[in-house]
Amino acid sequence: KKKAFIFDLDGVIVDTAKYHFLAWQKIAGRLGIEFTHEHNEQLKGVSRVRSLDIILGLGGVEATREDKEKWLAEKNEDYLNYIAAMNEEEILQGVVPVLQFLKAQNQNIALGSASKNARPILEKVNILHYFDAVVDGNDVTNAKPDPEVFLRAAQLVGASATDSVVFEDSVAGVQAANIAGMTSIGIGSPAILGEAHYVYTDFTEITTDFLNRLITN
Ligand code: G6P
Ligand code: MG
Repeated sequence: KKKAFIFDLDGVIVDTAKYHFLAWQKIAGRLGIEFTHEHNEQLKGVSRVRSLDIILGLGGVEATREDKEKWLAEKNEDYLNYIAAMNEEEILQGVVPVLQFLKAQNQNIALGSASKNARPILEKVNILHYFDAVVDGNDVTNAKPDPEVFLRAAQLVGASATDSVVFEDSVAGVQAANIAGMTSIGIGSPAILGEAHYVYTDFTEITTDFLNRLITN
């Protein structure tokens, strides 16, 4: 059967969380806000605007709309500098074989990401050509756990929600997939992603047997 396999980007295909972290840390540092790796976990799957609000909240910093706009622009400019240096080597282990297998099985492949930089990143790491549809932060109004991003992706490739499978590393993303009525596959720690239908530490653990079962069921 032809299903839709929808991939989140950050933390699933590439480890851009480290670049988001570095860029946010600069803004936080300038404002005298302590921003740790643990705090960064809370920003996974969260939009840029919301991320800034969370960071300002950590430091109890109030800011004008103008200040926020400025910091958001600076953060993204900095982030884009990191992205500019990316290449194929930054694709997480096991991702390309899974994409290749799904393509060979004539399955639909889509991206469902909160990032407004999703397309340039897919281009940088040279895997945009695998995707039949890309839905990103420029296309949706409601952030995960709202299912909008995944429902749009499924719709674009002509698959129903029940025929859609989502790969996600964030709790909000797993919830979005579940709310959409899709099969959710958590990529990361089972302790964090317990709500997912299946959890794998990374893509190297995903077998073609498992993928075949998803296709046939
Ligand atoms: C993903 C990441 C978040 C990031 C968001 C927006 O969901 O997990 O950490 O804040 O995308 O990314 P952007 O590239 O638009 O700033
Ligand atoms: Mg993610």
